[in-house]
Amino acid sequence: MDIVLYPDPRLRAKNKAIDSFDDALAKTVREMFELMYATKGVGLAAPQVGLNIKLLVFNAAGDAENSESEIVLCNPKIKSKGKDKESAEEGCLSFPQIFGNVMRHVSIVIEAQNLQGDTFELELEDWQSRIFQHENDHLEGMLFIDRMTPASKAMVKNYLTDMREDYDANANT
Ligand code: CO
Repeated sequence: MDIVLYPDPRLRAKNKAIDSFDDALAKTVREMFELMYATKGVGLAAPQVGLNIKLLVFNAAGDAENSESEIVLCNPKIKSKGKDKESAEEGCLSFPQIFGNVMRHVSIVIEAQNLQGDTFELELEDWQSRIFQHENDHLEGMLFIDRMTPASKAMVKNYLTDMREDYDANANT
C-alpha cells in the first residue's frame, strides 16, 4: 500500500459504497492506519491509497500510542453542519510539502457505519471536525486545493505545477 500523489486520477474518481464488512476490510483499515502513522498524517481516505471506496480513517492525536482516538468511518454522510466556520492551515498526504488555509465548519454531525456494518452517529468539533471534512471531501473526489483561500492557492500554484510535471514525467518512463 502506497500513498497516491496529486494529480493521480484516482484522487478524482468516483468512490463506491462499501457493502461487505469482512476481514479484508478490517485488514485494509489496519494498513491505512500504519501508513498514516508512518507518514505522520492525522487522516487518510481510501482513494489516497488507490482504493476507490467510501472509507476513511483518522486519529486527531496523530500517533499509534493513542489508538483509542482512532476513528474508522465507512460510507460516511453529513447529517448537519453548525453555522460557524473557521479558517486554518491544512496539509494532505497526497500533497507532501503543500500547506494552505481552508474554511471548515467548526462542528458537524455525521452518520457512518463501523467495521461491522452498524450505523452510528457522531458529533465532531474543531480539529476532528476539520479532519473529517478534509477526508470526506476525498470520498467526493474533492481536494483541499479546491477549497483553499485565494491567498493560499496563489502561494501553492508553482508547487502544484511541479507536481503535475513530476507526475507526467513518471507516467512517461
Ligand atoms: Co488529504
